[in-house]
Amino acid sequence: MKIGFASDHAGYQYKQALIAYLRRKGYSVVDYGTHGTSSVDYPDFAHALAEGIEKGEVDKGIALCGTGNGMAMTLNHHKGIRAGLAWNRDIGALISQHNNANVLVMPARFITLTMARLIVKTWLETPFEGGRHQRRIDKIPCA
Ligand code: RB5
Repeated sequence: MKIGFASDHAGYQYKQALIAYLRRKGYSVVDYGTHGTSSVDYPDFAHALAEGIEKGEVDKGIALCGTGNGMAMTLNHHKGIRAGLAWNRDIGALISQHNNANVLVMPARFITLTMARLIVKTWLETPFEGGRHQRRIDKIPCA
């Protein structure tokens, strides 16, 4: 499975650490930036990741900013994206089980790196349950 990453400056250090973590676990990774700690605008990187998923360059994505909200708001404007914000392990599981999130978003300024790794592992290993949850997902798009 190929995983795309995006962050702004607030998520940069966790992004680098999580890229290394997933490479050690055998995943292929594409880094859509940012590439340093200078202040940047999160939508530039959220859009790049979303387009990477929509074009099929990567299967899923992981995005980080300070609160996670800017990334989630931007990503969820894309038709092919269901971005879920998670800050603990249970929510990491539920955004997969119930929401079939193809992007995991995390608030880098409000969780530890250990927690971020645990959320990533849980989200990747938890399957979507389908059924009534698919019916609900089908009702998300606006006309
Ligand atoms: C950057 O200071 C911060 O606003 C950003 O990382 C994020 O929290 C926005 O939602």
